[in-house]
Amino acid sequence: MLDGNERDELLATLGWWVEAGVDTLVDAAPRDWRTPPPRTAAREIPASAPEPELVLRTGAASPANVTATTIAELRHAVEVFEGCPLRTGNVSTVFADGNPEADLMLIGEAPGAQEDRVGLPFVGPAGQLLDRMLSAIGRNRTSAYITNVTFWRPSGNRTPTPAEVETTMPFVRRHIALVRPKAIVALGACAARALTGDVTGIMRLRGQWRTLAVEGADYPLMPTLHPAFLLRQPDAKRLAWADLLAVKAKLDAD
Ligand code: URA
Repeated sequence: MLDGNERDELLATLGWWVEAGVDTLVDAAPRDWRTPPPRTAAREIPASAPEPELVLRTGAASPANVTATTIAELRHAVEVFEGCPLRTGNVSTVFADGNPEADLMLIGEAPGAQEDRVGLPFVGPAGQLLDRMLSAIGRNRTSAYITNVTFWRPSGNRTPTPAEVETTMPFVRRHIALVRPKAIVALGACAARALTGDVTGIMRLRGQWRTLAVEGADYPLMPTLHPAFLLRQPDAKRLAWADLLAVKAKLDAD
């Protein structure tokens, strides 16, 4: 029998897998994924092997080399950036959409196939739901600014790895510093983790204001559920609705 915490943890883990697009069980028998497999000689990594993360970090943006002072300069810097392995094989660099002067900034995970084709974030089914969510709090793309923590579509729409996201975060932080929104909404677990550094499941992170410090300024950040997750789990829309009402209240109060 599970206690309340274990149940919450399992639900958060399941929610995370569903959000990551895992919807098929591949083993006939259940497996306890929380217990690490026994180490065998074949799994040992030789001490001399380079760390995969260090390889990926080569060529990454750093606060020192993201010097853009306007949105246009930042867009250009992202477009010519070669340090993120995700950019290979994609049609577009998907930078942002909406109004960079808006007081509300929404940050998602990564472009999907339609975003890659069109070159704008959140234009597919999840984006259409996001537009409806914005409209429910009296906003649209002229009164909100939308971007992602990565600018290229991961193959097969998988979730970007932490190492991939790490290469683009200096751009994301500069992006925030240039827009200077009154509130930021992190859409989904990947964006919430990238921005807060907190690996707690999104079901626990959502709905709680955080303070995000970027280049000497503090921004209120609300993690919420990703619209793609809400398309698969419509029952969870009431949670996202509560989060958006909290965002609206904060923006209306200022
Ligand atoms: N999902 C995201 O996180 N971002 C997009 O731009 C589209 C789908």
